[in-house]
Amino acid sequence: MKLTYLGHSVVMIEEGKFKGIIDPFIKGNNNEVKLDDLVNITHIFVTHGHGDHLGDTVEIAKKNNSLIIANHEIVSYLNKFNVNTHAMHIGGKTKFDFGTVKMTNALHGSGISVGNDMIYGGNPCGFVIEVNGKKIYHAGDTGLTYDMKLLQSENVDVAFIPIGGNFTMDINDAVLAVDFIKPKKVVPIHYNTFDLIKADPIEFKKKVGQTETIILNINQSMGI
Ligand code: NI
Ligand code: MN
Repeated sequence: MKLTYLGHSVVMIEEGKFKGIIDPFIKGNNNEVKLDDLVNITHIFVTHGHGDHLGDTVEIAKKNNSLIIANHEIVSYLNKFNVNTHAMHIGGKTKFDFGTVKMTNALHGSGISVGNDMIYGGNPCGFVIEVNGKKIYHAGDTGLTYDMKLLQSENVDVAFIPIGGNFTMDINDAVLAVDFIKPKKVVPIHYNTFDLIKADPIEFKKKVGQTETIILNINQSMGI
């Protein structure tokens, strides 16, 4: 299985014909990844309604005929764009053709900005995605929660955790999150895209200690 970091909170999971992308914020992400580079995307996972996560979901879904998996409120909003959707909600676990998806809670907002208005986007979430016996946890945007201790029983193989602070956990809280979740490997995300979320991933790696921390550059992949 191949996991690729496309900057900010964008993670791509590839296994056989399954090509899933989480929080596809591509335009405005300030990196060299182009929407046209994203082909054969089978599934799109959206953790919450903020622009830097919902991102280019509609455009990618239309181009690739992808299935979008998100909470009920975001799906209700997306359905008017005539895209394929599957609504879930916090705590729910569903079997798909590629594996299973469990929607976990996140401590954050989920409003969808449309012009000057903000549309209700339900509760923000994270995802535990199991593909071919491997479990990936993407925390979305969240503050540290004690509920993360519950994820220990999931035996997560790779956890993608925000470290940028201001809108989410900072490095110190993210280190505690890793201790709660106890994943086999952790990858820091949601940092250095904007000035407000500047953080040093090497400092995070040092503070995490025992758990294997993998710092992925933008467009860099890892195998699991
Ligand atoms: Ni957010
Ligand atoms: Mn964000």
